[in-house]
Amino acid sequence: MNLHLSDLLKIIKRRLPVIIIATIVAVAGTGLISFYVLRPQYEATTTLLVQPINLLKEITYNEIIANEKLVTTYTEIIKSRMIAQDVISRLNLNISVEELLKKVRVVGIKNTLITAITVTSSDPLQAVRIANSFAQSFRDNLSEIMKVENVSILDEARLEENPKPVSPKPLINMVIMFFLVFNAGIFLAIFLEMMDKTVKLQGYTSEIFGLPLLGIIAKFPQKKEQLVCLDMPKSPQAEAFRTLRTNVSYMLLTKNIRALQITSTMPKEGKSLIIANLAVAMAQENKKILLMDCDLRKPFIHKIFAIANNFGITDILTGELDLDRVIVKTKQPNLDVIPSGPVPPNPSELLDLERFKELMGQLKEKYDTILLDSPPILPVTDGQILAKYADAVVMIIKLGSTHSESVKQAKYMLEHVNARLIGVVLNYERSQRKDYYYK
Ligand SMILES: Nc1ncnc2c1ncn2[C@@H]1O[C@H](COP(=O)(O)OP(=O)(O)OP(=O)(O)O)[C@@H](O)[C@H]1O
Ligand SMILES: [Mg+2]
Repeated sequence: MNLHLSDLLKIIKRRLPVIIIATIVAVAGTGLISFYVLRPQYEATTTLLVQPINLLKEITYNEIIANEKLVTTYTEIIKSRMIAQDVISRLNLNISVEELLKKVRVVGIKNTLITAITVTSSDPLQAVRIANSFAQSFRDNLSEIMKVENVSILDEARLEENPKPVSPKPLINMVIMFFLVFNAGIFLAIFLEMMDKTVKLQGYTSEIFGLPLLGIIAKFPQKKEQLVCLDMPKSPQAEAFRTLRTNVSYMLLTKNIRALQITSTMPKEGKSLIIANLAVAMAQENKKILLMDCDLRKPFIHKIFAIANNFGITDILTGELDLDRVIVKTKQPNLDVIPSGPVPPNPSELLDLERFKELMGQLKEKYDTILLDSPPILPVTDGQILAKYADAVVMIIKLGSTHSESVKQAKYMLEHVNARLIGVVLNYERSQRKDYYYK
């Protein structure tokens, strides 16, 4: 996948709300933890000057260098268990040597004979006392250990009036978290986009599946009115169905198609909703249209047209009822519907009956176009069986949901039964602005 800067910006724009929400949550969480959960830590520092006794006389340059190196030795002595134990006894502390040493940092200041002892503690007074105690213990014990030095305490740690904690630093933590999460969010968005193999409108061309694009249907802003061509004929959604009708009608005319099946790869991709509106739009052009709900497993057309589903295709196929008994007139002139009827135990076998072919012959005499709503192709075989009775098939693709590989697989399965795939309709397009919507 070749990503250009403009593609990256679009990806970031699309995922920006999630990135911003994640960043706000992370920064707020960091702030809360820094302010209310982490205990403030205070620091106190004591500095020591250790002079070898012979420094009082004149000494050579080499001796000065050697003495500077000794500072490293002093830092190790200060951090020794012996000194730490002595500090614990002097201050009567109730902690272990290891715990105490974790609070202490001893640093030899470069190019000097000065050593700084820094203690971190949640209690500023205790930090001061421990830092000073380390310095005193070192001074008292060093002459015994090395026998030569003279230790003076340069700067004793003191308790300030308003000691400021050295950590946590809420603002710095929050700024760091902001950059971390924001950048991670952008990388994650690009990564997810690259992993996402669903069909997108962006960059979609008819060549992708070798099928013409017959229409693009936006995601409806409203929940209820599904028959937009009937209930809201002036809406942009209805207009999109009329565009679809133009393209489909052209195909039907030029390819001499009378029965058209609409299917998709998987459930809930909008097959029934689209075929119902297409049927209304086609009937509005004064063509005699029949819409058959051939989804015998999950019939939905009767719900869209608010009609009963007590009788239907299953009754004709089992020979229980005549055709005239199951055809239902709709509110839309020129449009009739045959619901699926009661859900049978064996839908695939029922659809495979020779009776269906006869039925299609009869219906073609009565109607200009017959539209067959179908179950999805990949999960069940019914869609492939139905393709035998249809003159052509149109595939619905749900943008951002239907996988490209599934479309290729469904196309292969339909071609395998000699179905004539004439194009695709992209559903759930989301970029249409809601304020364009009017009734
Ligand atoms: N463009 C759209 N905007 C808003 N809602 C939609 C759109 N397309 C479909 N839907 C809704 O999605 C749901 C599934 O649609 P529909 O039943 O038409 O899909 P289907 O592919 O026929 O499903 P099934 O495989 O179960 O037959 C329905 O509630 C329908 O109203
Ligand atoms: Mg359906």
